Amino acid sequence: MNESNSANISSNFDFFSVDRLIDNSVTDFDLFINLRDHFILYSGSGYRWSREELTHLFHAGHTSLYVRKQDVSKTMMYEAIAKLPTVRQDLSPSERIRAIEDLGAKFTQCLFEGEITEACTDKAKLIAQELTDCILEDRSCVLNLGDLAGHDFYTFYHSIRVSAYSVAVAVSLGLSDVQLLREIALGGVLHDVGKRDVPVALLNKSGPLSEPEWSIVRSHPKVGHANIAQSILSHVPREIVLHHHERRSGLGYPDGLDHRSLLTEVQIVTLADIFDALTSARSYQKRRTRFEALDFIKHKLLKDDICPNAFRALVSCLTA
Ligand SMILES: [Fe+2]
Ligand SMILES: [Fe+2]
Repeated sequence: MNESNSANISSNFDFFSVDRLIDNSVTDFDLFINLRDHFILYSGSGYRWSREELTHLFHAGHTSLYVRKQDVSKTMMYEAIAKLPTVRQDLSPSERIRAIEDLGAKFTQCLFEGEITEACTDKAKLIAQELTDCILEDRSCVLNLGDLAGHDFYTFYHSIRVSAYSVAVAVSLGLSDVQLLREIALGGVLHDVGKRDVPVALLNKSGPLSEPEWSIVRSHPKVGHANIAQSILSHVPREIVLHHHERRSGLGYPDGLDHRSLLTEVQIVTLADIFDALTSARSYQKRRTRFEALDFIKHKLLKDDICPNAFRALVSCLTA
């Protein structure tokens, strides 16, 4: 905060109104004050704002701060993330998971519409933590996940549901390391982040995809992996983003890895991903019931493509 840095090239800075700052939020960009045409660093990236600080700033007459022009997109994402709803902790797990589902969908929408900043990955970690805590309290809360009738918001709700099913399966498999469960949850939240670069019309196309269209859709794991390359994320979520479309048979994409090379955590998310897709209404398929989806996976995919232990765990979660 006392570190100072000045520049007098106003064309490099934009206004940032103090009333855009939100109590108890972290700004992941530098903010400056203007003193006699010199821009002096007021708060460095990573600064957490308290209500007292905001009041003090306002009373000191600093109603406007300044931000570097190249950071303007970060300020937009900061505002979008900071305005996301909070989840009431006094709710029961089955009520909380619906609130987390809505929060996760709104978060994914932000992720798809803006720049992926530190504020995004911080929020994704927080959502992963809330989701994991909720499921550890009562695994059967996943039965309360919604089933949207339309497909317009599918992409936004899909990732958080995949995350929830994945954690429930992992818990059923006996994985008890909370940190690892949170990493699986985080991988689920982010697994389709590469789809932000796929045109919505293509994601929702009802007819068969042409070869060029199909190759754009199939690029999303690698694109997503590249999107999060600069983020501070551990190995498991990165692997989930890159390899959630691999198959145990080795016939998946993008790298054709088989069961010997795929992390169990990735195989769990792969199953959750397929299950949520089958139980959702899409432009090209009718929604299946949970029973129909499990039956489909059992008869069509279990032999070669899906981890049998994870499948048994999913059945136990949904029939508990
Ligand atoms: Fe995907
Ligand atoms: Fe997916």
